Amino acid sequence: MSVDRLAELLRGRQPCVVLTGAGISTESGIPDFRSAGGIWERYDPYEVGHIDSLRRDPARVWEFYALRLDALAQAEPNDGHHALARLEELGWIRALVTQNVDGLHQRAGSRDVVEVHGSLREAQCPACGVRVPMADAIASLPLPACPDCGEVLKPGVVMFGELLPVEAIERAQQLAAEAGLLLVVGSSLEVHPVAGLPGETLAAGGALALVNHGATSWDSRAELVLDAGAGETLRAVAAALDILGSDG
Ligand code: APR
Repeated sequence: MSVDRLAELLRGRQPCVVLTGAGISTESGIPDFRSAGGIWERYDPYEVGHIDSLRRDPARVWEFYALRLDALAQAEPNDGHHALARLEELGWIRALVTQNVDGLHQRAGSRDVVEVHGSLREAQCPACGVRVPMADAIASLPLPACPDCGEVLKPGVVMFGELLPVEAIERAQQLAAEAGLLLVVGSSLEVHPVAGLPGETLAAGGALALVNHGATSWDSRAELVLDAGAGETLRAVAAALDILGSDG
Protein backbone atom coordinates (compact mmCIF):
# COMPACT_ATOMS: atom_id res chain seq x y z
CA MET A 1 0.00 0.00 0.00
CA SER A 2 1.46 3.39 -0.98
CA VAL A 3 0.92 4.87 2.49
CA ASP A 4 2.96 2.00 3.96
CA ARG A 5 5.71 2.75 1.43
CA LEU A 6 5.70 6.41 2.50
CA ALA A 7 5.84 5.39 6.19
CA GLU A 8 8.76 3.09 5.32
CA LEU A 9 10.60 5.94 3.58
CA LEU A 10 9.99 8.23 6.55
CA ARG A 11 11.43 5.58 8.87
CA GLY A 12 14.39 4.70 6.68
CA ARG A 13 15.42 8.03 5.16
CA GLN A 14 15.80 10.39 8.10
CA PRO A 15 16.03 13.31 8.56
CA CYS A 16 12.81 14.11 6.72
CA VAL A 17 12.08 17.68 5.61
CA VAL A 18 8.62 18.56 4.31
CA LEU A 19 7.92 21.13 1.58
CA THR A 20 4.29 22.24 1.26
CA GLY A 21 2.39 24.28 -1.27
CA ALA A 22 -1.13 25.61 -1.66
CA GLY A 23 -2.47 22.09 -2.21
CA ILE A 24 -2.27 21.32 1.51
CA SER A 25 -4.63 24.21 2.29
CA THR A 26 -7.37 23.55 -0.30
CA GLU A 27 -9.04 21.17 2.16
CA SER A 28 -9.30 24.17 4.50
CA GLY A 29 -11.30 26.02 1.84
CA ILE A 30 -8.38 28.12 0.53
CA PRO A 31 -8.09 27.87 -3.27
CA ASP A 32 -4.71 26.97 -4.75
CA PHE A 33 -3.18 28.78 -7.72
CA ARG A 34 -2.91 26.40 -10.67
CA SER A 35 -5.65 23.80 -10.24
CA ALA A 36 -8.78 24.21 -12.36
CA GLY A 37 -10.63 27.14 -10.79
CA GLY A 38 -7.50 28.21 -8.94
CA ILE A 39 -6.55 31.79 -8.14
CA TRP A 40 -4.48 32.39 -11.30
CA GLU A 41 -7.38 31.21 -13.43
CA ARG A 42 -9.53 34.00 -11.98
CA TYR A 43 -6.97 36.77 -11.51
CA ASP A 44 -4.02 37.84 -13.67
CA PRO A 45 -0.91 37.36 -11.47
CA TYR A 46 0.77 40.28 -13.21
CA GLU A 47 -2.17 42.53 -12.39
CA VAL A 48 -2.46 41.67 -8.67
CA GLY A 49 0.56 39.59 -7.66
CA HIS A 50 3.57 41.41 -9.14
CA ILE A 51 5.55 44.12 -7.36
CA ASP A 52 5.09 46.32 -10.45
CA SER A 53 1.30 46.07 -10.06
CA LEU A 54 1.64 47.42 -6.52
CA ARG A 55 3.35 50.50 -7.94
CA ARG A 56 0.87 50.76 -10.85
CA ASP A 57 -2.43 50.14 -9.05
CA PRO A 58 -1.99 49.55 -5.29
CA ALA A 59 -5.73 49.73 -4.58
CA ARG A 60 -6.31 46.78 -6.98
CA VAL A 61 -3.57 44.74 -5.27
CA TRP A 62 -5.05 45.44 -1.82
CA GLU A 63 -8.55 44.58 -3.08
CA PHE A 64 -7.18 41.17 -4.19
CA TYR A 65 -5.40 40.54 -0.90
CA ALA A 66 -8.44 41.64 1.12
CA LEU A 67 -10.41 38.89 -0.68
CA ARG A 68 -7.68 36.34 0.12
CA LEU A 69 -7.70 37.46 3.76
CA ASP A 70 -11.50 37.00 3.87
CA ALA A 71 -11.09 33.36 2.76
CA LEU A 72 -8.31 32.94 5.30
CA ALA A 73 -10.43 34.31 8.17
CA GLN A 74 -12.83 31.34 7.82
CA ALA A 75 -10.08 28.74 7.37
CA GLU A 76 -9.03 26.18 9.96
CA PRO A 77 -6.05 23.81 9.81
CA ASN A 78 -7.08 20.48 8.21
CA ASP A 79 -6.02 16.85 8.72
CA GLY A 80 -2.90 17.41 6.62
CA HIS A 81 -1.68 20.31 8.77
CA HIS A 82 -2.43 18.41 11.99
CA ALA A 83 -0.73 15.24 10.77
CA LEU A 84 2.46 17.16 9.93
CA ALA A 85 2.44 18.81 13.36
CA ARG A 86 2.05 15.36 14.97
CA LEU A 87 4.86 13.89 12.89
CA GLU A 88 7.13 16.77 13.95
CA GLU A 89 6.14 16.27 17.60
CA LEU A 90 7.07 12.57 17.32
CA GLY A 91 10.44 13.42 15.76
CA TRP A 92 9.68 12.10 12.25
CA ILE A 93 9.98 15.55 10.61
CA ARG A 94 13.02 17.81 11.14
CA ALA A 95 11.43 21.00 9.74
CA LEU A 96 8.72 22.21 7.40
CA VAL A 97 9.34 24.58 4.48
CA THR A 98 6.15 26.17 3.19
CA GLN A 99 5.31 28.36 0.21
CA ASN A 100 1.99 29.14 1.87
CA VAL A 101 1.31 32.46 3.54
CA ASP A 102 -1.80 31.34 5.46
CA GLY A 103 -0.15 30.45 8.79
CA LEU A 104 -2.18 27.22 9.06
CA HIS A 105 0.86 25.05 9.80
CA GLN A 106 1.66 27.11 12.90
CA ARG A 107 -2.00 27.12 13.97
CA ALA A 108 -1.96 23.30 13.72
CA GLY A 109 1.06 23.20 16.05
CA SER A 110 4.02 22.86 13.68
CA ARG A 111 6.96 24.59 15.35
CA ASP A 112 9.89 24.72 12.93
CA VAL A 113 8.23 26.35 9.89
CA VAL A 114 10.26 28.17 7.21
CA GLU A 115 7.95 30.60 5.34
CA VAL A 116 9.85 31.14 2.08
CA HIS A 117 7.12 33.33 0.54
CA GLY A 118 6.43 35.45 3.63
CA SER A 119 3.06 35.54 5.37
CA LEU A 120 -0.21 37.47 5.51
CA ARG A 121 0.24 38.12 9.23
CA GLU A 122 1.78 41.52 8.49
CA ALA A 123 1.99 44.29 5.93
CA GLN A 124 5.34 45.91 5.14
CA CYS A 125 6.55 49.28 3.90
CA PRO A 126 8.45 48.81 0.59
CA ALA A 127 10.28 52.10 1.23
CA CYS A 128 11.45 51.98 4.86
CA GLY A 129 10.79 48.35 5.79
CA VAL A 130 8.44 49.06 8.71
CA ARG A 131 6.11 46.13 9.45
CA VAL A 132 2.54 46.52 10.76
CA PRO A 133 -0.02 43.86 11.81
CA MET A 134 -2.23 42.99 8.81
CA ALA A 135 -5.34 43.99 10.82
CA ASP A 136 -4.06 47.60 10.95
CA ALA A 137 -3.46 47.60 7.19
CA ILE A 138 -6.92 46.18 6.46
CA ALA A 139 -8.46 48.79 8.77
CA SER A 140 -7.02 51.55 6.55
CA LEU A 141 -8.03 50.16 3.12
CA PRO A 142 -8.22 51.00 0.25
CA LEU A 143 -4.63 52.32 0.52
CA PRO A 144 -2.87 51.42 3.80
CA ALA A 145 -0.04 53.91 4.40
CA CYS A 146 3.19 53.42 6.31
CA PRO A 147 2.87 55.00 9.79
CA ASP A 148 6.48 56.21 9.49
CA CYS A 149 6.97 57.47 5.94
CA GLY A 150 3.48 57.50 4.41
CA GLU A 151 4.37 55.17 1.52
CA VAL A 152 1.62 52.70 0.50
CA LEU A 153 2.22 49.42 2.34
CA LYS A 154 2.49 46.00 0.68
CA PRO A 155 1.20 42.65 2.02
CA GLY A 156 4.01 40.81 3.86
CA VAL A 157 4.24 38.18 1.10
CA VAL A 158 6.82 37.73 -1.66
CA MET A 159 5.31 39.14 -4.85
CA PHE A 160 6.39 38.15 -8.34
CA GLY A 161 9.43 40.23 -9.26
CA GLU A 162 10.69 40.25 -5.66
CA LEU A 163 13.53 38.31 -4.06
CA LEU A 164 12.67 35.76 -1.38
CA PRO A 165 13.70 36.52 2.22
CA VAL A 166 17.38 35.53 2.12
CA GLU A 167 17.49 33.87 5.53
CA ALA A 168 14.41 31.75 4.77
CA ILE A 169 15.47 30.50 1.34
CA GLU A 170 19.04 29.85 2.50
CA ARG A 171 17.77 27.79 5.44
CA ALA A 172 15.35 25.96 3.11
CA GLN A 173 18.22 25.11 0.73
CA GLN A 174 20.37 23.92 3.66
CA LEU A 175 17.52 21.76 5.02
CA ALA A 176 16.90 20.26 1.56
CA ALA A 177 20.61 19.51 1.10
CA GLU A 178 20.76 17.74 4.47
CA ALA A 179 17.47 15.84 4.07
CA GLY A 180 17.48 12.06 3.79
CA LEU A 181 13.94 12.48 2.50
CA LEU A 182 12.27 15.57 1.05
CA LEU A 183 8.50 15.05 1.22
CA VAL A 184 6.65 17.48 -1.07
CA VAL A 185 2.94 17.92 -0.37
CA GLY A 186 0.48 19.89 -2.50
CA SER A 187 2.77 21.82 -4.79
CA SER A 188 3.03 21.99 -8.59
CA LEU A 189 6.75 22.81 -8.11
CA GLU A 190 6.55 25.43 -10.86
CA VAL A 191 7.90 28.50 -9.08
CA HIS A 192 11.65 28.94 -8.52
CA PRO A 193 13.76 29.03 -6.45
CA VAL A 194 11.54 26.74 -4.33
CA ALA A 195 10.99 24.41 -7.30
CA GLY A 196 14.75 23.75 -7.22
CA LEU A 197 14.78 22.37 -3.66
CA PRO A 198 14.21 18.73 -4.75
CA GLY A 199 17.41 19.07 -6.78
CA GLU A 200 19.35 20.05 -3.63
CA THR A 201 18.16 16.89 -1.86
CA LEU A 202 18.83 14.57 -4.80
CA ALA A 203 22.27 16.08 -5.49
CA ALA A 204 23.26 15.37 -1.88
CA GLY A 205 22.06 11.75 -2.10
CA GLY A 206 18.67 12.18 -0.46
CA ALA A 207 15.36 10.82 -1.72
CA LEU A 208 12.22 12.59 -2.92
CA ALA A 209 8.59 11.68 -2.23
CA LEU A 210 5.58 13.57 -3.62
CA VAL A 211 1.97 13.66 -2.44
CA ASN A 212 0.12 15.74 -5.00
CA HIS A 213 -2.93 15.71 -7.23
CA GLY A 214 -1.38 15.91 -10.68
CA ALA A 215 2.09 15.55 -12.13
CA THR A 216 5.16 17.67 -11.43
CA SER A 217 8.43 17.97 -13.34
CA TRP A 218 10.18 16.04 -10.52
CA ASP A 219 8.00 12.92 -10.63
CA SER A 220 10.46 10.89 -12.70
CA ARG A 221 13.20 11.40 -10.09
CA ALA A 222 11.05 10.66 -7.05
CA GLU A 223 11.28 7.47 -4.99
CA LEU A 224 7.51 7.66 -4.51
CA VAL A 225 4.73 9.66 -6.21
CA LEU A 226 1.26 9.51 -4.66
CA ASP A 227 -1.46 11.19 -6.71
CA ALA A 228 -3.67 11.40 -3.63
CA GLY A 229 -5.27 13.86 -1.22
CA ALA A 230 -2.89 15.53 1.21
CA GLY A 231 -5.14 15.24 4.26
CA GLU A 232 -6.12 11.59 3.93
CA THR A 233 -2.58 10.49 3.01
CA LEU A 234 -0.82 12.36 5.81
CA ARG A 235 -3.42 11.31 8.36
CA ALA A 236 -2.85 7.67 7.38
CA VAL A 237 0.96 8.00 7.53
CA ALA A 238 0.83 9.74 10.92
CA ALA A 239 -1.44 6.96 12.22
CA ALA A 240 0.97 4.29 10.97
CA LEU A 241 4.00 5.96 12.55
CA ASP A 242 2.17 7.04 15.66
CA ILE A 243 1.45 3.39 16.38
CA LEU A 244 5.17 2.73 15.95
CA GLY A 245 6.04 5.76 18.11
CA SER A 246 9.15 7.90 17.57
CA ASP A 247 11.61 5.07 18.28
CA GLY A 248 10.52 3.60 14.94
N1 APR B 1 -4.25 17.10 -2.08
C1 APR B 1 -3.16 16.94 -2.87
N2 APR B 1 -2.82 17.83 -3.85
C2 APR B 1 -3.60 18.91 -4.01
C3 APR B 1 -4.76 19.15 -3.22
C4 APR B 1 -5.06 18.18 -2.22
N3 APR B 1 -6.13 18.31 -1.42
N4 APR B 1 -5.33 20.32 -3.64
C5 APR B 1 -4.55 20.78 -4.65
N5 APR B 1 -3.53 19.95 -4.88
C6 APR B 1 -2.42 20.11 -5.83
C7 APR B 1 -2.80 20.73 -7.15
O1 APR B 1 -3.22 19.73 -8.08
C8 APR B 1 -1.49 21.39 -7.59
O2 APR B 1 -0.67 20.48 -8.30
O3 APR B 1 -1.53 21.06 -5.24
C9 APR B 1 -0.80 21.73 -6.26
C10 APR B 1 -0.82 23.22 -5.95
O4 APR B 1 -0.02 23.86 -6.91
P1 APR B 1 -0.10 25.45 -7.07
O5 APR B 1 -1.53 25.87 -7.13
O6 APR B 1 0.81 25.82 -8.22
O7 APR B 1 0.47 26.02 -5.70
P2 APR B 1 1.99 26.13 -5.26
O8 APR B 1 2.81 25.02 -5.82
O9 APR B 1 2.00 26.31 -3.80
O10 APR B 1 2.45 27.51 -5.94
C11 APR B 1 3.72 28.03 -5.63
O11 APR B 1 3.17 30.07 -6.79
O12 APR B 1 1.79 31.82 -7.29
C12 APR B 1 2.84 31.42 -6.51
O13 APR B 1 3.38 32.42 -4.47
C13 APR B 1 2.49 31.51 -5.05
O14 APR B 1 3.40 30.15 -3.28
C14 APR B 1 2.75 30.10 -4.53
C15 APR B 1 3.67 29.52 -5.59
